[in-house]
Amino acid sequence: MCGIIGIASKKGALRKPLGEVIREALKRLEYRGYDSVGFAVVNELGVLFIRKSKGKIDDVQAKLAFNEFDGVSGVGHTRWATHGPPSDVNAHPHTDCSGRVAVAHNGIIENYASIREWLAGRGHRFVSETDTEVIPHLIEEFKRGGAGPYEAFKAAVARLKGAFAIVAVDADAPGYVFFARNTSPLVLGFGEGANFVASDIPAFLPYTNRVMVLRDWEVGYLTPDEVVVEELMPGEDGVEANRVSLRVRVIEWTPQMAMKGGYPHYMIKEIHEQPQAIAATLAGLPDQVGAVAEALKHADKVVLIGAGTSYHASFLGALALTNIAGLLAVPVIASEARWYLRGLREGDVVIAVSQSGETIDTLLAVREARKRGALTIAVSNVVDSAIPRESDMSIYTRAGPEIGVAATKTFTAQVVTLAYLAARAGNDARVIEALKELPDLAEAVIVESEPLARALAKVMAEKQSAFYLGRGPAYPVAMEGALKLKEVSYLHAEAYPAGESKHGPIALVEEGFPVVFTALSREDGGALVSNVEEMAARGAWRIAVAPRTLEEVLGRADVRFPMPPTSPWAAAALYVIPHQLLAYYTAVFRGYDPDKPRNLAKTVTVV
Ligand code: G6P
Repeated sequence: MCGIIGIASKKGALRKPLGEVIREALKRLEYRGYDSVGFAVVNELGVLFIRKSKGKIDDVQAKLAFNEFDGVSGVGHTRWATHGPPSDVNAHPHTDCSGRVAVAHNGIIENYASIREWLAGRGHRFVSETDTEVIPHLIEEFKRGGAGPYEAFKAAVARLKGAFAIVAVDADAPGYVFFARNTSPLVLGFGEGANFVASDIPAFLPYTNRVMVLRDWEVGYLTPDEVVVEELMPGEDGVEANRVSLRVRVIEWTPQMAMKGGYPHYMIKEIHEQPQAIAATLAGLPDQVGAVAEALKHADKVVLIGAGTSYHASFLGALALTNIAGLLAVPVIASEARWYLRGLREGDVVIAVSQSGETIDTLLAVREARKRGALTIAVSNVVDSAIPRESDMSIYTRAGPEIGVAATKTFTAQVVTLAYLAARAGNDARVIEALKELPDLAEAVIVESEPLARALAKVMAEKQSAFYLGRGPAYPVAMEGALKLKEVSYLHAEAYPAGESKHGPIALVEEGFPVVFTALSREDGGALVSNVEEMAARGAWRIAVAPRTLEEVLGRADVRFPMPPTSPWAAAALYVIPHQLLAYYTAVFRGYDPDKPRNLAKTVTVV
């Protein structure tokens, strides 16, 4: 959570005032947090300006007057509050007593209280409730002791414990941006006359696609024409740092991929991008899954781990591996994983599913699984991110950057990847053939279901609560449908295995209560008929997403989404689309911004 950016630029190299470039970069990072925003710019004369405020960028833009500030180095921050509520004073960047150092930070400094006490004893005054504020004061303290700006920055970082991505500017070092990473993501961008460091690639994508993902305990600095990275090794008598050679790679993402391209929101753009996301992902799989599928064939137990939407993909993956490849595979929620991982041993396989590759609970689960001797396999959309890097093997989805907080295209790409993997492990050519048809079918489903989803959303927007029911592989699809509705439209939505609905949920159903049924095939849909009947008998308002051949289900619904019949393992990626569209339009009709649901962040890097 939190988006950070740092830029060192020659005057004029970016053709806009640095403050404005920072604002645009923050806008592209706003999905990571958006309760406060701020920036600091140092000009060539060594004057440092800081502006910050509570609120979303668009709302505070005029107040902060970004484009009035030009300079040669700057940092920016968009916040998702952890320590201290959203407020002007808690907004980043934070500064030291002299006001010469400005720091923006993502993560949590676990030992901030003891550092703060120590610094306070040495005369430092703190103004915010954040953990971050200790960093500029630490830098100041080391400068007072005679260290230069970069040496002081490194010495400060070496004192920190916890998860952090840090960017800093110093009025005593115009044209320099200092950075450090441990656990929270940070990526360098190499431009012409300007270099960048940010939480995520889209921040600087309009200027460069030459990137380097930083690793834990890497620190360094940018100038307009130099990037230096070192590995920090905190030692007893100070800091040791060894220069690291730059691991620059060119990524295929284009600036357009990180823009709305005419759509009103990223979420709807990304829903529409699913045919390409699936096609690109499928094209990349044959070269990636061979060894992984082989390893799975010899697995004793398989555990799939993910958070949020990635957990739903993990659930589908577990069912696919069990039903296609005959393995006993179970899905586990990442934050709960430790209670299961204790049962792992050599011969077991853990598949960690995470679009960002940075979710802390999933990362911790990978570390634990490796410790216990299990083979770890990452499925991620971000090359070189922490989870793939720390896993034994990796498979990358190719959905392109996903900016909307609510995952859509990365979910379908994950589902397709896991189904493909199961089909390869189980030698099931029919499933692979069905998956290949998905890009065209997804296109057709979007075209056909969007007008109906939109009309349905108008009515849904007036409701308070909804159930989502399905059986077998349709259940995780129902879970994903409920999650989408809940997170973007703020309606209460709950998914249940349809057979379980009689054990409680049905007590809530009365005239007009929305129940959304999903069936992927006759196998899971046949038994759903009685559930539709039960709900009908209580006056529920019934919506069905089911194969068009499953008349028994569709015919009993008030609102029908007839879907192309295909293998259930392919259908999961297809039948979720009407759910995504319904959630999107319900949020829009209720007047909410689906790209930035309240209290949520795209990547959760704190436990
Ligand atoms: C957050 C996001 C979700 C996402 C989940 C897991 O909660 O809001 O959209 O599904 O994290 O993220 P990951 O990057 O691990 O897939």
